Amino acid sequence: MTQPLDIVGLCGSLRKGSLNRMALRLAGELMPPSMKLDIVDWRELPPFDADLLAAGMPAPVGALRERIARADGVLFATPEYNFGLPGMLKNAIDWVSRGADQPFAMKPVAVLSATPGPLGGARVQYELRKALQYLHAMVMVKPEVFIGMADGKFDAQGHCTDETTRKFVTEQMRAFEPWIAAVRRMGSATG
Ligand code: FNR
Repeated sequence: MTQPLDIVGLCGSLRKGSLNRMALRLAGELMPPSMKLDIVDWRELPPFDADLLAAGMPAPVGALRERIARADGVLFATPEYNFGLPGMLKNAIDWVSRGADQPFAMKPVAVLSATPGPLGGARVQYELRKALQYLHAMVMVKPEVFIGMADGKFDAQGHCTDETTRKFVTEQMRAFEPWIAAVRRMGSATG
């Protein structure tokens, strides 16, 4: 039996009741059985400091880099903070980006976002895509998923009660599998 594709989930919010973690779990629930989501905790990362890096890659950074390198794809779900990326998430990306073997290069990535406001994180997704583009990550363009008014779309157990959201997330996850295959083909074609 073939192993399911290994998808690492990175949540841009650290809080327990995060809507974005609920959205990540929803994606894990709705993705095809040929994919499996592992939501990775990266809260142990220190603030980026080049002097710290010069003394050796901190262990939590090494572990995160290795986990991303091993994954078949990465799925981000992030809130928008002040029209941009949450500082902690940007810090994590900055750490992971250091070194020639940075693991986002040619990595298939999908992005979604959730906010209690109406736009669903429309602005933060472009900030995230910009940083990942610099790192040569292969970020799927469409379908885009912005979960606006998200606090009314999940129940107290974190279950998504909104059929439209479930449909959009299902479609995105269905598209992610062929995207991963396409990126692999491109990788083998370009050597
Ligand atoms: C926010 N929030 C927010 N929402 C938004 O749509 N645009 C924004 O620019 C901001 N800015 C912002 C800054 C900071 C510092 C905080 C803490 C919050 C609201 C945010 O979307 C909301 O708190 C989400 O619920 C956070 O995501 P999680 O933790 O639920 O995943």
